[in-house]
Amino acid sequence: MDHREVGKYWNGNASVWTQLARAGYDVYRDYLNTPAFLAMLPDVRGLSGIDIGCGEGHNTRLIARRGARLAGIDISDVFIRYAIEEEQREPLGINFHIASAVAIPFPDSHFDFAVAVMSLMDMPDTEIVLAEVLRIIKPGGFLQFSITHPCSDVPHRKNLRDDKRRSYAFELGGYFENLEGDMTEWIFSTTPEELKRKLPKFKIPRFMRRISQWLNLLIETGFTIERVEEPIPSTEAVRACPAVQDAKVIPFFLHIRARKPGVNEVNGSTRVGDR
Ligand SMILES: C[S@@+](CC[C@H](N)C(=O)[O-])C[C@H]1O[C@@H](n2cnc3c(N)ncnc32)[C@H](O)[C@@H]1O
Repeated sequence: MDHREVGKYWNGNASVWTQLARAGYDVYRDYLNTPAFLAMLPDVRGLSGIDIGCGEGHNTRLIARRGARLAGIDISDVFIRYAIEEEQREPLGINFHIASAVAIPFPDSHFDFAVAVMSLMDMPDTEIVLAEVLRIIKPGGFLQFSITHPCSDVPHRKNLRDDKRRSYAFELGGYFENLEGDMTEWIFSTTPEELKRKLPKFKIPRFMRRISQWLNLLIETGFTIERVEEPIPSTEAVRACPAVQDAKVIPFFLHIRARKPGVNEVNGSTRVGDR
């Protein structure tokens, strides 16, 4: 499945996704993933950045509020329409564009940083995408991204719960299957039953890469891996939203920050005279 076909599925998901996420049902995002991503993000005040696969722009706006000048791209024109509407309602200076990450419509070395929040694992041609990201960030700039954790987002996944409905283990399998565009259907788990009955499930093509493939791809593209995190929900987060307790049992997400070498850096070493 190519990136255009993937984009059509996301266009089909975009309205319900935006409605439910804005109503607070993307709880793993709100109680775990985004707080951890922002905690890991370097100071971006005064920097220019791009959010790749920005969806309706929720995380783009949070990063813009930290003082960065942001652009956001997404292959889905429906998501971009929602993002632009929100930007018009409450301007943060974000420029949203319909574009695919395989051909990012910006010149070389244009941005100080790039983020990709829960989007890279939904794209085919990851090697082209990472090469594009490397191209459009300045030497010394960084890419920070989050993905579903390759070790736990696997074809066979069964959540095992005790008699109080608390998760205590997962049965996992199929890690080495390398799915390329296989379809999955789901909806945010905390969506009220009444809404679940009315709304269509998301249809999401799945592109699985093993953890070694992600790390090797970054290295082969020319990035230097700088930081890696596997967020765990805090006690307060589980108290506020008990549904995220299961993310304490196995890692649900993987966050990586990788840097484009500076102008005078070759293969990770710095030449004499560099700072
Ligand atoms: C799971 S959603 C995440 C959206 C957003 N970053 C968030 O955190 O709410 C994945 C996003 O990737 C976008 N996407 C998929 N393939 C893409 C591509 N080739 N180029 C740009 N965006 C893409 C989808 O349209 C969708 O908005």
